[in-house]
Parts: sequence; C-alpha cells; structure tokens
Amino acid sequence: MAILVTGGAGFIGSHTCVALTQAGYEVIIVDNYYNSSPKSLARICELCGKDIPLYECDIRDRAGLDKIFKENKIEAVIHFAGLKAVGESCQKPIEYYDNNIGGTLTLCDVMRHNNCKNIVFSSSATVYGMHNVSPLKETMPAGGTTNPYGTTKYMIEIILEDIVKSDSDWNVTLLRYFNPIGAHKSGRIGENPNGIPNNLMPYITQVAIGKLPELSVFGDDYDTHDGTGVRDYIHVVDLAEGHVKALNNILEGKKGVQIFNLGTGHGYSVLDIVKAFEQASGRKVPYKIAPRRPGDIATCYSDPTKAKEVLGWEAKRGLEEMCEDSWRWQSMNPNGFED
Ligand code: NAD
Ligand code: UFG
Repeated sequence: MAILVTGGAGFIGSHTCVALTQAGYEVIIVDNYYNSSPKSLARICELCGKDIPLYECDIRDRAGLDKIFKENKIEAVIHFAGLKAVGESCQKPIEYYDNNIGGTLTLCDVMRHNNCKNIVFSSSATVYGMHNVSPLKETMPAGGTTNPYGTTKYMIEIILEDIVKSDSDWNVTLLRYFNPIGAHKSGRIGENPNGIPNNLMPYITQVAIGKLPELSVFGDDYDTHDGTGVRDYIHVVDLAEGHVKALNNILEGKKGVQIFNLGTGHGYSVLDIVKAFEQASGRKVPYKIAPRRPGDIATCYSDPTKAKEVLGWEAKRGLEEMCEDSWRWQSMNPNGFED
C-alpha cells in the first residue's frame, strides 16, 4: 500500500516525502511542477536512497488522477498541492479558488470512487482569522479570513468536514501550519520561491547572499515586544515529522475529523529573526522599517498541546537550527534548483 503525496515536489511536500520514506512508507507523488522543479524530485530520490515515482499531473485532471489510483494501491493521501501566495490570491481569486478548491473536490471525488478515504490536508494558521488571540487553539472559531488564499483553506476545511458527515468511512486530518522555515540538513532540498520572495525567511536569505539589497520590515509600531510582527516559526523537518505522526494516527483506525496545530508555541518578532539569522550565518542583513503590510496581524502563535497529547508530536528544532539550515540551503543553492 502506498501514500499519495499531492504537491510532493514542493517545499513542505519534498521534506515530507523524505520523512515518510524514512518511516518506512511507500510514497508516490503527483505534482504539475507549477511551483516546483523535476530537480527537486531528483534530490528527494537521492535523500530517500531510492526512486520515488512521480506522476506529472494536475490534480484537477480527473482522468489523470484516476489512472494513478488504478495503477497503485493507495491507502491515504497527504494533500499539499495548491497555490499559496497571499498577495497574488487577491489579484487572481479565480485561479486560487479553481486550483485549491476545484483541485481538492476532484481529488476527493476520485478518492471516493477508488475507495480511498483517508486524507491529511495542509491547512494554515490563517484560518484563525484576525479576531482570535494567540496562543491559538484548535477549539477557537475559524473563519474571518482576509484574503482568497486563506478563504480557500477555510472553505476546504468545511468541505472535508461535510464529506465526513455524509460518509463516516472517511478519516480527515486538518493540519494547521504556522510559519515553516529551515531546510533539510543536507542542504539538498529547501524552499525555492519564484521571483521576489513574499515570506520573511527566503527574503532574509536572499538579502544575506546579495541577491536583494535590503529587507523591508513591515511595521515597527505593533503591540509586540519590539513593535515588529510576531510569528510562530517552525522547522520544515519538524513539520514533515508531524505529517508522519498524523498519518500513523489516521491509519490506526476510525478517526473522523481531527484538527491539529503544527507550531512550536513560541512567538518571535521580525527583528528577533533578523538577529538570530545574523548570528547563525555570520552575515549582515541590512534592513529598513517600512509601512505595515495590509492584512498582517501583530501576533500569531500556536498552542501546540493537542498535537503533543494526541499524536505524540512536538517540534524539536529551535530558532538557531532553523536559521542555520535556511542559510545552508541558500548558500549551497544560490539559485535554488536552477543551478
Ligand atoms: P509549494 O508551492 O512549494 O508546494 C506546492 C506544490 O503543489 C508545488 O510543487 C506545486 O507545483 C504543486 N501544485 C500546485 N497546484 C497543483 C495542481 N493543481 N496539481 C498538481 N500539483 C500542484 O508550497 P509549500 O510551501 O510546500 O506548501 C504546501 C501546502 O502547505 C500548500 O497547500 C500551502 O498552502 C500549505 N501551507 C504552506 C505554508 C507556508 O508558509 N509554506 C503555510 C501554511 C500552509
Ligand atoms: N515580513 C517583513 N518583511 C518581509 C516579509 C515579511 O517584515 O519582507 C514580516 C511580516 O509582516 C510578518 C512576518 O514577517 O510580520 C512573517 O511574514 P510571512 O510573509 O513570512 O508570513 P505570514 O505570517 O504573513 O504568512 C505565512 C504564510 C501563509 C500562512 C501563514 C500561517 O505566507 O501562507 O504564514 O501562519 F497562512
């Protein structure tokens, strides 16, 4: 029996494929390479020490997906495939709803027809919206999202919950990620953003390597310890290991819908991250204070207790290691997978 990983060539998916293989699972990837590269697959195979089959296919392609299920015995799906840029989603809402929601509906329908009813879904802390106060707990009301990307995550959570209500054979695990950074220790796989990065850590690493002149810190007048935004940064390998635990849990038997935060429970400000990165890399990160970024909130961090109690998972890697590993990846691969 195999685990189908949608979006497995991407940032979080690639690390999860390695962690799944190390845990003894047989992995099959489906990816359309919209935001990734075949070179990522080559490196996943290198780290796994074996060939990992990848179907180059869009998850909205019903016939293509069905063929994958017919050719393999798939026990569960870990569903990463989707578009993820918050700002872009405001410019291209149709593309975001079509890819994220349309893709998930097609995937679930094909799963149903092939009697595979176990799914782990990549949700996001963004579903907690603007109004809940950190530390964020799974019992808090979701919704109040502020951009189409976040709304797709919230809507998909509801869709998956409705599927379980309609057919109790389904097992759905919703994993709400906080801010994944870092990279595999080997420096062989990592985050490979297209164009100018939107997220803080890839922006910092590109400043440190000289590809970008300076970091803009979006706001220094928030109600936080130094006025800059506070987030819960989590090492991507910890996140990947969280998926293995979630999968083990779902395959143990009847679970229905389960929701888990995957975060560390610690909040760090933008300037904390700059300082930690400078220490870990030995590089200066010039920055300027810029206006607040629309849609940002002051503080967002998790209460990760439930994942520890139910899944036996907790993040093990601290900020120093996250910064070291982000820097190793960037410095070994100045142009990402394009070298
Ligand atoms: P990524 O862009 O690196 O990976 C997504 C992968 O999905 C890419 O390889 C892309 O080519 C593929 N893909 C996209 N649309 C597809 C389609 N229609 N058919 C087949 N493949 C498709 O992103 P990531 O950072 O690894 O994120 C993975 C998931 O986690 C996404 O669903 C994202 O929304 C979610 N998430 C990410 C973050 C984050 O900060 N990185 C935070 C919370 C949630
Ligand atoms: N920031 C800067 N300068 C930059 C980029 C970011 O100051 O160039 C700041 C932001 O204002 C924020 C913090 O750094 O205070 C983190 O910003 P990111 O863009 O890295 O991450 P977000 O918290 O905004 O969002 C990320 C993902 C979302 C996901 C969310 C979950 O982009 O997809 O984490 O918490 F939903």
